[in-house]
Amino acid sequence: MKKVLYILPFAVITFLSSCKKNNVESYEEWGFKPQSYFPDPAYNFEGNKQDYNSFVLGRALFYDKLLSSDNTVSCSMCHEQPHGFGSHSTSLSVGVGGLIGTRNSPPIFNMAWMPDFMWDGGINHIEVMPIAPITNPVEMNETIANVINKLQQSERYRKLFKLAYGGSEQVTEQKMLKALAQFMMMIVSDQSKYDKVRRNEATFTQTEQQGYDLFVQKCSQCHTEPLFTDYSFRNNGLDATFDDLGRALITQQTSDEGKFKVPTLRNVELTYPYMHDGRFFTLNQVLDHYSSGVQQSATLDPALQTGIPLTSSEKLQLIAFLKTLTDYELLNNKWLMEPQD
Ligand code: HEC
Ligand code: HEC
Repeated sequence: MKKVLYILPFAVITFLSSCKKNNVESYEEWGFKPQSYFPDPAYNFEGNKQDYNSFVLGRALFYDKLLSSDNTVSCSMCHEQPHGFGSHSTSLSVGVGGLIGTRNSPPIFNMAWMPDFMWDGGINHIEVMPIAPITNPVEMNETIANVINKLQQSERYRKLFKLAYGGSEQVTEQKMLKALAQFMMMIVSDQSKYDKVRRNEATFTQTEQQGYDLFVQKCSQCHTEPLFTDYSFRNNGLDATFDDLGRALITQQTSDEGKFKVPTLRNVELTYPYMHDGRFFTLNQVLDHYSSGVQQSATLDPALQTGIPLTSSEKLQLIAFLKTLTDYELLNNKWLMEPQD
Protein backbone atom coordinates (compact mmCIF):
# COMPACT_ATOMS: atom_id res chain seq x y z
CA MET A 1 0.00 0.00 0.00
CA LYS A 2 2.78 2.38 0.98
CA LYS A 3 4.54 1.69 -2.29
CA VAL A 4 1.44 2.57 -4.28
CA LEU A 5 1.11 5.83 -2.40
CA TYR A 6 4.66 6.72 -3.31
CA ILE A 7 4.28 5.77 -6.94
CA LEU A 8 0.89 7.34 -7.52
CA PRO A 9 1.81 11.04 -7.29
CA PHE A 10 4.86 10.33 -9.38
CA ALA A 11 2.75 8.64 -12.06
CA VAL A 12 0.30 11.54 -12.07
CA ILE A 13 3.10 14.07 -12.48
CA THR A 14 4.70 12.10 -15.31
CA PHE A 15 1.31 11.79 -17.00
CA LEU A 16 0.62 15.50 -16.71
CA SER A 17 4.01 16.54 -17.96
CA SER A 18 3.80 14.18 -20.93
CA CYS A 19 0.40 15.69 -21.80
CA LYS A 20 1.88 19.10 -21.60
CA LYS A 21 4.65 18.35 -24.03
CA ASN A 22 2.47 16.51 -26.43
CA ASN A 23 -0.64 18.48 -25.94
CA VAL A 24 0.14 21.89 -24.50
CA GLU A 25 -2.67 23.63 -22.70
CA SER A 26 -3.51 26.41 -25.11
CA TYR A 27 -3.43 26.76 -28.86
CA GLU A 28 -1.41 29.97 -28.50
CA GLU A 29 1.22 28.16 -26.48
CA TRP A 30 1.36 25.35 -29.02
CA GLY A 31 1.19 27.67 -32.05
CA PHE A 32 3.34 27.63 -35.16
CA LYS A 33 6.83 27.91 -33.72
CA PRO A 34 9.51 26.88 -36.20
CA GLN A 35 12.81 25.59 -34.84
CA SER A 36 15.77 27.95 -35.17
CA TYR A 37 17.52 25.50 -37.51
CA PHE A 38 14.56 25.42 -39.95
CA PRO A 39 14.62 27.76 -42.97
CA ASP A 40 12.01 30.51 -43.35
CA PRO A 41 8.61 29.06 -44.25
CA ALA A 42 7.38 29.44 -47.82
CA TYR A 43 3.84 30.08 -46.58
CA ASN A 44 2.94 33.62 -45.68
CA PHE A 45 0.43 33.85 -42.82
CA GLU A 46 -0.28 37.51 -43.66
CA GLY A 47 -3.49 36.77 -45.55
CA ASN A 48 -4.56 33.96 -43.20
CA LYS A 49 -3.66 35.00 -39.65
CA GLN A 50 -3.27 32.08 -37.26
CA ASP A 51 -6.43 31.64 -35.32
CA TYR A 52 -7.74 28.87 -33.10
CA ASN A 53 -11.29 28.86 -34.51
CA SER A 54 -10.12 28.71 -38.14
CA PHE A 55 -7.82 25.86 -37.17
CA VAL A 56 -10.73 24.00 -35.51
CA LEU A 57 -12.85 24.50 -38.62
CA GLY A 58 -10.02 23.30 -40.85
CA ARG A 59 -9.56 20.21 -38.69
CA ALA A 60 -13.28 19.40 -38.85
CA LEU A 61 -13.20 19.71 -42.66
CA PHE A 62 -10.07 17.59 -42.97
CA TYR A 63 -11.74 14.71 -41.13
CA ASP A 64 -15.15 15.06 -42.80
CA LYS A 65 -16.39 12.63 -45.44
CA LEU A 66 -18.96 15.22 -46.46
CA LEU A 67 -16.29 16.67 -48.75
CA SER A 68 -16.73 13.69 -51.12
CA SER A 69 -19.55 13.01 -53.59
CA ASP A 70 -21.00 9.97 -51.77
CA ASN A 71 -19.89 11.04 -48.28
CA THR A 72 -17.48 8.12 -47.95
CA VAL A 73 -14.02 9.67 -48.31
CA SER A 74 -12.27 12.27 -46.15
CA CYS A 75 -8.84 13.88 -46.58
CA SER A 76 -7.72 11.94 -43.50
CA MET A 77 -8.40 8.57 -45.16
CA CYS A 78 -5.48 9.09 -47.56
CA HIS A 79 -3.52 11.28 -45.15
CA GLU A 80 -3.53 9.27 -41.89
CA GLN A 81 -1.95 10.68 -38.74
CA PRO A 82 -0.49 7.30 -37.59
CA HIS A 83 1.47 7.26 -40.86
CA GLY A 84 2.75 10.83 -40.73
CA PHE A 85 -0.38 11.99 -42.56
CA GLY A 86 0.52 9.80 -45.51
CA SER A 87 -1.10 6.59 -46.64
CA HIS A 88 0.37 3.21 -46.01
CA SER A 89 -2.27 0.73 -47.02
CA THR A 90 -1.91 0.79 -50.80
CA SER A 91 0.71 1.80 -53.35
CA LEU A 92 -1.74 4.02 -55.19
CA SER A 93 -4.40 6.11 -53.51
CA VAL A 94 -7.96 4.78 -53.21
CA GLY A 95 -10.87 7.20 -53.49
CA VAL A 96 -14.65 7.25 -53.90
CA GLY A 97 -16.11 3.89 -55.00
CA GLY A 98 -12.72 2.22 -54.47
CA LEU A 99 -11.29 3.90 -57.58
CA ILE A 100 -7.52 3.78 -57.76
CA GLY A 101 -5.45 6.90 -58.40
CA THR A 102 -2.19 7.07 -60.29
CA ARG A 103 0.15 8.04 -57.47
CA ASN A 104 1.02 7.30 -53.85
CA SER A 105 -0.42 9.69 -51.23
CA PRO A 106 2.46 11.76 -49.85
CA PRO A 107 2.68 12.56 -46.14
CA ILE A 108 1.49 16.09 -45.44
CA PHE A 109 3.54 17.62 -42.64
CA ASN A 110 5.85 20.65 -42.87
CA MET A 111 3.68 21.91 -45.73
CA ALA A 112 4.48 25.47 -44.59
CA TRP A 113 7.93 25.03 -46.13
CA MET A 114 6.86 23.40 -49.39
CA PRO A 115 6.99 25.73 -52.41
CA ASP A 116 5.16 23.43 -54.87
CA PHE A 117 2.66 20.67 -54.18
CA MET A 118 2.09 17.24 -55.76
CA TRP A 119 4.76 14.85 -56.98
CA ASP A 120 5.11 16.90 -60.16
CA GLY A 121 4.79 20.32 -58.48
CA GLY A 122 1.63 21.04 -60.47
CA ILE A 123 0.05 23.15 -57.71
CA ASN A 124 1.83 26.14 -56.24
CA HIS A 125 -0.39 27.29 -53.38
CA ILE A 126 -1.74 25.40 -50.36
CA GLU A 127 -4.92 27.46 -50.45
CA VAL A 128 -5.96 26.00 -53.81
CA MET A 129 -4.51 22.54 -53.11
CA PRO A 130 -7.72 20.97 -51.66
CA ILE A 131 -9.65 21.72 -54.86
CA ALA A 132 -7.63 19.02 -56.61
CA PRO A 133 -8.56 16.06 -54.35
CA ILE A 134 -12.14 17.27 -53.86
CA THR A 135 -12.84 17.45 -57.60
CA ASN A 136 -10.62 14.56 -58.76
CA PRO A 137 -12.95 11.78 -60.02
CA VAL A 138 -10.76 9.05 -58.47
CA GLU A 139 -10.37 10.84 -55.14
CA MET A 140 -13.40 12.69 -53.72
CA ASN A 141 -15.26 13.21 -57.03
CA GLU A 142 -17.26 16.18 -55.76
CA THR A 143 -17.83 19.75 -56.95
CA ILE A 144 -16.88 22.74 -54.82
CA ALA A 145 -20.41 24.14 -55.22
CA ASN A 146 -21.90 20.94 -53.77
CA VAL A 147 -19.49 20.91 -50.85
CA ILE A 148 -20.35 24.53 -50.02
CA ASN A 149 -24.02 23.64 -50.26
CA LYS A 150 -23.69 20.67 -47.90
CA LEU A 151 -21.71 22.76 -45.42
CA GLN A 152 -24.22 25.61 -45.59
CA GLN A 153 -27.02 23.17 -44.74
CA SER A 154 -25.26 21.91 -41.64
CA GLU A 155 -25.97 23.79 -38.43
CA ARG A 156 -22.66 22.62 -36.95
CA TYR A 157 -20.71 24.10 -39.86
CA ARG A 158 -22.71 27.34 -39.98
CA LYS A 159 -21.64 27.83 -36.35
CA LEU A 160 -18.02 26.84 -36.99
CA PHE A 161 -17.76 29.21 -39.98
CA LYS A 162 -19.24 32.06 -37.98
CA LEU A 163 -16.92 31.40 -35.05
CA ALA A 164 -13.91 31.35 -37.38
CA TYR A 165 -14.71 34.31 -39.59
CA GLY A 166 -17.27 36.34 -37.66
CA GLY A 167 -20.09 38.18 -39.37
CA SER A 168 -22.63 36.00 -41.13
CA GLU A 169 -23.02 32.24 -41.20
CA GLN A 170 -22.26 32.34 -44.92
CA VAL A 171 -20.06 29.44 -46.04
CA THR A 172 -17.70 30.35 -48.88
CA GLU A 173 -15.05 28.52 -50.87
CA GLN A 174 -12.40 31.00 -49.77
CA LYS A 175 -13.16 30.55 -46.06
CA MET A 176 -13.14 26.77 -46.46
CA LEU A 177 -9.77 26.78 -48.25
CA LYS A 178 -8.17 29.14 -45.76
CA ALA A 179 -9.36 27.00 -42.84
CA LEU A 180 -7.99 23.82 -44.42
CA ALA A 181 -4.67 25.64 -44.94
CA GLN A 182 -4.67 26.70 -41.25
CA PHE A 183 -5.00 23.09 -40.19
CA MET A 184 -2.35 21.83 -42.60
CA MET A 185 0.13 24.54 -41.58
CA MET A 186 -0.05 23.27 -38.02
CA ILE A 187 1.08 19.77 -38.98
CA VAL A 188 4.75 20.29 -38.21
CA SER A 189 7.24 17.51 -37.67
CA ASP A 190 10.23 18.67 -35.62
CA GLN A 191 10.29 16.37 -32.57
CA SER A 192 12.14 13.32 -33.93
CA LYS A 193 15.25 11.92 -32.28
CA TYR A 194 17.22 13.63 -35.06
CA ASP A 195 15.77 16.98 -33.89
CA LYS A 196 16.59 16.21 -30.29
CA VAL A 197 20.17 15.41 -31.27
CA ARG A 198 20.36 18.73 -33.15
CA ARG A 199 19.14 20.51 -30.05
CA ASN A 200 21.58 18.61 -27.81
CA GLU A 201 18.71 16.91 -26.00
CA ALA A 202 19.75 13.40 -27.10
CA THR A 203 22.65 11.55 -28.67
CA PHE A 204 22.79 9.07 -31.53
CA THR A 205 23.88 5.50 -30.92
CA GLN A 206 27.08 4.56 -32.69
CA THR A 207 25.19 2.87 -35.54
CA GLU A 208 22.85 5.84 -35.98
CA GLN A 209 25.85 8.18 -36.08
CA GLN A 210 27.55 6.02 -38.73
CA GLY A 211 24.29 6.06 -40.70
CA TYR A 212 24.07 9.84 -40.39
CA ASP A 213 27.65 10.27 -41.65
CA LEU A 214 26.85 8.09 -44.67
CA PHE A 215 23.62 9.97 -45.25
CA VAL A 216 25.44 13.32 -45.36
CA GLN A 217 27.90 11.95 -47.93
CA LYS A 218 25.51 10.08 -50.15
CA CYS A 219 21.94 11.32 -49.81
CA SER A 220 21.76 14.83 -48.44
CA GLN A 221 22.50 16.70 -51.66
CA CYS A 222 18.86 15.88 -52.59
CA HIS A 223 17.30 14.96 -49.23
CA THR A 224 18.70 18.12 -47.64
CA GLU A 225 18.57 18.76 -43.88
CA PRO A 226 16.66 19.78 -41.89
CA LEU A 227 13.54 19.14 -43.99
CA PHE A 228 15.19 16.19 -45.79
CA THR A 229 14.30 17.53 -49.21
CA ASP A 230 15.53 20.45 -51.30
CA TYR A 231 12.13 20.45 -53.09
CA SER A 232 13.82 20.06 -56.48
CA PHE A 233 12.52 17.72 -59.19
CA ARG A 234 14.84 14.89 -60.10
CA ASN A 235 15.02 11.50 -61.71
CA ASN A 236 16.45 8.99 -59.22
CA GLY A 237 16.68 6.20 -61.77
CA LEU A 238 13.58 4.14 -61.07
CA ASP A 239 12.89 3.45 -64.77
CA ALA A 240 14.53 3.61 -68.19
CA THR A 241 11.25 4.68 -69.82
CA PHE A 242 8.39 6.50 -68.12
CA ASP A 243 4.72 5.56 -67.70
CA ASP A 244 4.28 8.79 -65.73
CA LEU A 245 6.20 11.73 -67.19
CA GLY A 246 6.20 13.54 -63.82
CA ARG A 247 7.48 17.12 -63.88
CA ALA A 248 7.33 17.21 -67.71
CA LEU A 249 3.52 17.05 -67.50
CA ILE A 250 3.70 20.54 -65.99
CA THR A 251 6.63 22.12 -67.84
CA GLN A 252 6.19 20.31 -71.21
CA GLN A 253 9.99 19.99 -71.34
CA THR A 254 11.48 16.66 -72.40
CA SER A 255 14.39 17.43 -70.06
CA ASP A 256 11.91 17.03 -67.14
CA GLU A 257 10.60 13.60 -68.12
CA GLY A 258 10.68 11.10 -65.26
CA LYS A 259 11.50 13.76 -62.67
CA PHE A 260 9.55 13.90 -59.41
CA LYS A 261 9.75 16.12 -56.37
CA VAL A 262 12.38 14.91 -53.91
CA PRO A 263 10.24 13.64 -51.01
CA THR A 264 11.03 14.42 -47.38
CA LEU A 265 12.47 11.49 -45.40
CA ARG A 266 11.08 12.62 -42.08
CA ASN A 267 8.86 9.82 -40.70
CA VAL A 268 10.00 7.63 -43.60
CA GLU A 269 9.84 4.55 -41.37
CA LEU A 270 6.02 4.93 -41.46
CA THR A 271 5.28 6.36 -44.90
CA TYR A 272 5.74 3.17 -46.91
CA PRO A 273 5.09 2.27 -49.64
CA TYR A 274 7.76 4.45 -51.24
CA MET A 275 8.25 6.49 -54.42
CA HIS A 276 5.61 8.34 -56.48
CA ASP A 277 3.96 5.05 -57.43
CA GLY A 278 4.52 3.25 -54.14
CA ARG A 279 6.58 0.50 -55.79
CA PHE A 280 8.79 -0.31 -52.77
CA PHE A 281 7.46 -1.49 -49.43
CA THR A 282 10.63 -1.53 -47.35
CA LEU A 283 13.62 0.71 -46.80
CA ASN A 284 15.82 -2.25 -47.72
CA GLN A 285 14.24 -2.30 -51.17
CA VAL A 286 14.87 1.45 -51.50
CA LEU A 287 18.55 1.03 -50.60
CA ASP A 288 18.89 -1.95 -52.97
CA HIS A 289 17.51 0.34 -55.66
CA TYR A 290 20.13 3.03 -55.00
CA SER A 291 22.99 0.57 -54.70
CA SER A 292 22.27 -1.77 -57.59
CA GLY A 293 18.99 -0.92 -59.37
CA VAL A 294 19.47 2.56 -60.84
CA GLN A 295 18.25 2.65 -64.46
CA GLN A 296 19.96 4.79 -67.08
CA SER A 297 17.96 7.37 -69.03
CA ALA A 298 18.54 10.79 -70.58
CA THR A 299 17.23 12.63 -67.50
CA LEU A 300 18.86 10.47 -64.79
CA ASP A 301 20.36 12.74 -62.11
CA PRO A 302 24.14 13.19 -62.61
CA ALA A 303 24.68 12.29 -58.93
CA LEU A 304 23.28 8.81 -59.58
CA GLN A 305 25.08 7.88 -62.83
CA THR A 306 26.92 5.03 -61.12
CA GLY A 307 24.33 4.44 -58.39
CA ILE A 308 25.27 4.63 -54.72
CA PRO A 309 27.20 1.47 -53.86
CA LEU A 310 26.42 0.34 -50.29
CA THR A 311 27.63 -2.66 -48.29
CA SER A 312 25.12 -4.57 -46.19
CA SER A 313 26.44 -3.03 -42.97
CA GLU A 314 26.19 0.45 -44.49
CA LYS A 315 22.56 -0.30 -45.35
CA LEU A 316 21.88 -1.26 -41.73
CA GLN A 317 23.53 1.93 -40.51
CA LEU A 318 21.56 4.10 -42.95
CA ILE A 319 18.30 2.48 -41.88
CA ALA A 320 19.15 2.98 -38.21
CA PHE A 321 19.65 6.67 -38.96
CA LEU A 322 16.46 6.97 -41.05
CA LYS A 323 14.49 5.61 -38.11
CA THR A 324 15.67 8.54 -35.98
CA LEU A 325 13.49 10.71 -38.23
CA THR A 326 10.28 9.24 -36.78
CA ASP A 327 8.39 11.88 -34.81
CA TYR A 328 6.24 10.07 -32.23
CA GLU A 329 4.91 13.35 -30.88
CA LEU A 330 3.43 14.19 -34.28
CA LEU A 331 1.77 10.79 -34.49
CA ASN A 332 0.20 11.22 -31.06
CA ASN A 333 -0.48 14.94 -31.13
CA LYS A 334 -3.99 15.38 -29.77
CA TRP A 335 -4.48 18.76 -31.43
CA LEU A 336 -4.25 17.11 -34.81
CA MET A 337 -6.56 14.17 -34.10
CA GLU A 338 -10.14 13.81 -35.26
CA PRO A 339 -12.30 15.79 -32.85
CA GLN A 340 -14.66 13.59 -30.82
CA ASP A 341 -17.94 15.46 -30.88
C1 HEC B 1 -8.09 9.34 -52.45
C2 HEC B 1 -6.92 9.72 -51.67
C3 HEC B 1 -6.75 11.20 -51.34
C4 HEC B 1 -7.66 12.03 -50.72
C5 HEC B 1 -9.08 11.72 -50.32
C6 HEC B 1 -6.97 13.28 -50.52
N1 HEC B 1 -5.68 13.20 -50.98
FE1 HEC B 1 -4.26 14.63 -50.81
N2 HEC B 1 -3.06 13.55 -52.04
C7 HEC B 1 -3.33 12.30 -52.53
C8 HEC B 1 -2.35 11.94 -53.55
C9 HEC B 1 -2.30 10.64 -54.34
C10 HEC B 1 -1.49 13.06 -53.67
C11 HEC B 1 -0.32 13.20 -54.65
C12 HEC B 1 -0.95 13.52 -55.99
C13 HEC B 1 0.03 13.81 -57.10
O1 HEC B 1 1.20 14.08 -56.83
O2 HEC B 1 -0.39 13.73 -58.25
C14 HEC B 1 -1.95 14.05 -52.68
C15 HEC B 1 -1.31 15.26 -52.43
C16 HEC B 1 -1.71 16.15 -51.45
C17 HEC B 1 -0.95 17.31 -51.03
C18 HEC B 1 0.42 17.73 -51.55
C19 HEC B 1 1.50 17.04 -50.77
C20 HEC B 1 2.86 17.11 -51.41
O3 HEC B 1 3.81 16.56 -50.82
O4 HEC B 1 3.02 17.67 -52.51
C21 HEC B 1 -1.71 17.97 -50.08
C22 HEC B 1 -1.34 19.22 -49.33
C23 HEC B 1 -2.94 17.21 -49.93
N3 HEC B 1 -2.89 16.10 -50.77
C24 HEC B 1 -3.99 17.57 -49.11
C25 HEC B 1 -5.24 16.95 -49.17
C26 HEC B 1 -6.47 17.52 -48.61
C27 HEC B 1 -6.56 18.83 -47.86
C28 HEC B 1 -7.47 16.64 -48.87
C29 HEC B 1 -8.95 16.78 -48.57
C30 HEC B 1 -9.60 17.94 -49.14
C31 HEC B 1 -6.86 15.52 -49.58
N4 HEC B 1 -5.52 15.76 -49.76
C32 HEC B 1 -7.55 14.39 -49.95
C33 HEC B 1 -4.36 11.48 -52.13
C34 HEC B 1 -5.51 11.95 -51.52
C1 HEC C 1 19.90 12.77 -56.99
C2 HEC C 1 18.98 13.04 -55.90
C3 HEC C 1 18.78 11.94 -54.88
C4 HEC C 1 19.74 11.29 -54.13
C5 HEC C 1 21.26 11.45 -54.17
C6 HEC C 1 19.01 10.39 -53.27
N1 HEC C 1 17.67 10.49 -53.49
FE1 HEC C 1 16.22 9.48 -52.52
N2 HEC C 1 14.81 10.27 -53.78
C7 HEC C 1 15.05 11.20 -54.78
C8 HEC C 1 13.87 11.40 -55.57
C9 HEC C 1 13.69 12.34 -56.75
C10 HEC C 1 12.88 10.56 -55.01
C11 HEC C 1 11.44 10.36 -55.51
C12 HEC C 1 11.47 9.56 -56.80
C13 HEC C 1 10.12 9.15 -57.33
O1 HEC C 1 9.21 8.85 -56.56
O2 HEC C 1 10.01 9.09 -58.56
C14 HEC C 1 13.52 9.88 -53.88
C15 HEC C 1 12.87 8.98 -53.03
C16 HEC C 1 13.44 8.40 -51.92
C17 HEC C 1 12.72 7.62 -50.94
C18 HEC C 1 11.22 7.35 -50.95
C19 HEC C 1 10.51 8.31 -50.01
C20 HEC C 1 9.01 8.29 -50.12
O3 HEC C 1 8.36 8.85 -49.22
O4 HEC C 1 8.45 7.77 -51.09
C21 HEC C 1 13.62 7.23 -50.00
C22 HEC C 1 13.33 6.40 -48.76
C23 HEC C 1 14.90 7.75 -50.39
N3 HEC C 1 14.76 8.45 -51.57
C24 HEC C 1 16.07 7.57 -49.68
C25 HEC C 1 17.31 7.97 -50.13
C26 HEC C 1 18.57 7.61 -49.50
C27 HEC C 1 18.68 6.81 -48.22
C28 HEC C 1 19.56 8.14 -50.27
C29 HEC C 1 21.05 7.98 -50.09
C30 HEC C 1 21.50 6.58 -50.06
C31 HEC C 1 18.93 8.85 -51.36
N4 HEC C 1 17.57 8.72 -51.25
C32 HEC C 1 19.62 9.55 -52.34
C33 HEC C 1 16.27 11.81 -55.02
C34 HEC C 1 17.49 11.42 -54.47
